[in-house]
Amino acid sequence: MAEGTIRKLSDTVSIDLAKEMLGKDGMWHCRKCGEVTARRIRMQTIPGARRERWIRCRCACDEEKARKAQEEAISREKKAKVEEIRKRSMMGDRYGDARFSTVTEDARSESFIRTLEVLQDYSENASKMLERGTGIYLYGPTGVGKTYLLAALANELMECMHTVLFSSIAEILKRIRGTWQKDAKEDEEAIFAEIRTVEFLFLDDIGQENFGISGSDNWTREKTYELVNARYNSMRPTIFSSNMSLEALRAKGIGQPVAERIAEMTTIRLELTGVNRRRRRNAV
Ligand SMILES: Nc1ncnc2c1ncn2[C@@H]1O[C@H](COP(=O)(O)OP(=O)(O)OP(=O)(O)O)[C@@H](O)[C@H]1O
Ligand SMILES: [Mg+2]
Ligand SMILES: [Zn+2]
Repeated sequence: MAEGTIRKLSDTVSIDLAKEMLGKDGMWHCRKCGEVTARRIRMQTIPGARRERWIRCRCACDEEKARKAQEEAISREKKAKVEEIRKRSMMGDRYGDARFSTVTEDARSESFIRTLEVLQDYSENASKMLERGTGIYLYGPTGVGKTYLLAALANELMECMHTVLFSSIAEILKRIRGTWQKDAKEDEEAIFAEIRTVEFLFLDDIGQENFGISGSDNWTREKTYELVNARYNSMRPTIFSSNMSLEALRAKGIGQPVAERIAEMTTIRLELTGVNRRRRRNAV
């Protein structure tokens, strides 16, 4: 308020003459919108004794200002929340900017367009997918853009404030092995709690692991079962990508119980074919 323009009406109400004017009705009005900004009311305190008091009113401009401030606060809060979700998602830098809008469409590949359509539809119906626990199994040869498309989906989900973990079986197993260190920051239970509770779990590149018969391969197979089973029991959506079909995954030795659970969890199956984008770009 500019100095010299303030008039005190009471201990609690001051008028800014630059912005307000006294109306014929004896009340103060906003110079801009004309609405009442301060009105006098008569109060009956004790029987017989009347007292007058000024009270402040919000004019249309004040309402607008308050609405904007509230909107800004909400958007700030949302931004902070999305930022927090992104931090926890383990989405790396490489695919951090992937969005459906940044996908360079490969018009020649029908499977690409179909995949993009299904994933977009999935993201638009995210709450329903979450409720139903609908998962996705996306498979196809290397370099066709599976991780990129799933990252775009994950990023879109996070923008809508859904919690996401974008990881892989191999990465999660590495985290579990990390808990064996003496100075480990997390324990295995915390990792499993995250697996169970995150809204959308992305397991990229399943099938890269060794499910052979050596001791460590056995551990990998058992932990893979535990991870998939934990998620299966939570009934929340899991989105897989792989170089192999579910049948091939089963043949590789992931185990019948795991394969069956994945099949049940992923009612959306997508095969992505096309050119190897990495090879095309780097010509190796
Ligand atoms: N639609 C797209 N628009 C722009 N860049 C893309 C698109 N799809 C993929 N890429 C880029 O092409 C490269 C290969 O894609 P991506 O890593 O998603 O393949 P992939 O199918 O996951 O391969 P792999 O099976 O080896 O994991 C990446 O560098 C990625 O950034
Ligand atoms: Mg990939
Ligand atoms: Zn006003």
